[in-house]
Amino acid sequence: MTRRLGDGTLVIATHNAGKLKEIAALLAPYGPQCVSAGALGLPEPAETGTTFVENALIKARAAAEASQLPSLADDSGLSVAALGGRPGVYTADWAERQWFEGEPGRDWYMAMGKVEGLLQAHGPDADRACWFSCVLAIAWPDGESAVYEGRVEGTYAWPPRGTMGFGYDPVFVPAGRDVTFAELPSEEKQSMSHRADAFRKLVAEQFGA
Ligand code: IMP
Repeated sequence: MTRRLGDGTLVIATHNAGKLKEIAALLAPYGPQCVSAGALGLPEPAETGTTFVENALIKARAAAEASQLPSLADDSGLSVAALGGRPGVYTADWAERQWFEGEPGRDWYMAMGKVEGLLQAHGPDADRACWFSCVLAIAWPDGESAVYEGRVEGTYAWPPRGTMGFGYDPVFVPAGRDVTFAELPSEEKQSMSHRADAFRKLVAEQFGA
């Protein structure tokens, strides 16, 4: 039988305030009190895994050990079939760190162009199938864990289109649609995203909802 989270404190293993807000809002109806690893001053472990599952577990386990509280972490990225699943766990790394008007960020246009360049090297008929993955991992302080994997299939579009969303949204056309994630209002994207898929699975098993 799967271990269940109660309505106690749940550490969200992220130092990203945006992610904490989004995850806390998704879990709000089910009771857990969310606090971020950043707010607790927990160290950020190196993401040395080679799969989304490994990296999500590394982050969740590090937070559970350091806080002695149940902890939730996520790992996500874009995989392109013709590129053997790349960039995959290195999705963020393919975008170089930059400064934008004094703020640290990443150059997503450069990263999207890198993927496109590799696809074009496969010729004009390159298979553009790709998918976003999101893995949510829960770890308890005694070492038990649970993993939920969400996915959304699509095709890699070029040139990038749309101004909403973030990361690789402007090149991702979800299956059955002809617009990119960056052309969809956020509620519509959220309802079909890899993150929503993973959360649906987590909520069903952990909270029976
Ligand atoms: P991480 O899960 O924070 O390590 O981020 C992985 C990277 O994957 C992000 O920085 C984004 O570039 C990309 N990514 C993950 N989810 C999405 C999405 O919903 N839209 C666009 N890009 C995404």
